[in-house]
Amino acid sequence: PKDIKELQEEIRSLARQKNAVILAHYYQRPEVQDIADFVGDSLELSRKASQTDADIILFCGVRFMCETAKILNPTKKVLHPNPESGCPMADMIRPEQVLKLKEQHPDGEVVAYVNTSADVKAVSDVCVTSANAIKVVQKLQSKKIIFIPDQALGNWVKKHVPDKEFVIWQGFCPPHFEFTAKELERLKQQFPDAKVAVHPECHPKVIEMADFVGSTSQIINYATTCDSDRVIVITEVGLKHTLIKKNPNKEYIFPQSMNYCGTVYCCTMKAITLPLVYKTLKEEINEVVLDEEIIAKARRPLERMLELS
Ligand code: 13P
Ligand code: SF4
Repeated sequence: PKDIKELQEEIRSLARQKNAVILAHYYQRPEVQDIADFVGDSLELSRKASQTDADIILFCGVRFMCETAKILNPTKKVLHPNPESGCPMADMIRPEQVLKLKEQHPDGEVVAYVNTSADVKAVSDVCVTSANAIKVVQKLQSKKIIFIPDQALGNWVKKHVPDKEFVIWQGFCPPHFEFTAKELERLKQQFPDAKVAVHPECHPKVIEMADFVGSTSQIINYATTCDSDRVIVITEVGLKHTLIKKNPNKEYIFPQSMNYCGTVYCCTMKAITLPLVYKTLKEEINEVVLDEEIIAKARRPLERMLELS
């Protein structure tokens, strides 16, 4: 086995030889983030994937992110280092359930969080990410919004767009949603001078207690620049790596949660490892393959999102 540094160098050299771009989400392992050409939130990663002129996109993230890259750039070879790495929230809704909702609410527009499968996007009207959901929904003509699959993000958007009626699917992100307001109360008591930044996938009671609510990139921006030297950050612990890199002079407090991981931790995001990245790029395996008709249909709501945001 090679050591981390050697593996990282070999991956970077392979990427150069093969004209591959490596994209990574902020929840990836630190050593994986460090070999990426670009680390970002879901919206930024979608934009990067749609603009790249590389021949290969090696995507360090969960399956729906790789699918999004393929949909937005279907002529490229998109590689996913661990095809088992999915998003449990994305698996909480299937296309036939969306079609049933459309039948029940024919006057509604289906707003799909990007955390959905390509099949679900293919039957949706517009996509959103946590960075643009409010803005996109505000711009929609329709008075009725069918929001899928995240109840937490759906409720947060509903609160900010009071003139529309919402039908919200009851999906949730296990690592974020299971963190409780009681646990945040305890942290606030322990660090009364700290500001609180929260991801909108958190429970509404946790969101209510935040000084700032936003996507991973927006949280990084806020936490590294706000006027407090201490920030309680309620999102996946992978964010700590970039926070410290961007502004090492502050203290970032991540929750000691009651769940078995001890903090907000996404097991599937962490299922991408350096040896898997290396093998995938070297052998050009684990290619993301999608049906052409699904690509064509799923592209519309994604492009609409990019236009509206
Ligand atoms: P963002 O990076 O868009 O905030 O998304 C968080 C997330 O849970 C991705 O799975
Ligand atoms: Fe899915 Fe939550 Fe993990 Fe993001 S953090 S990939 S929403 S389970």
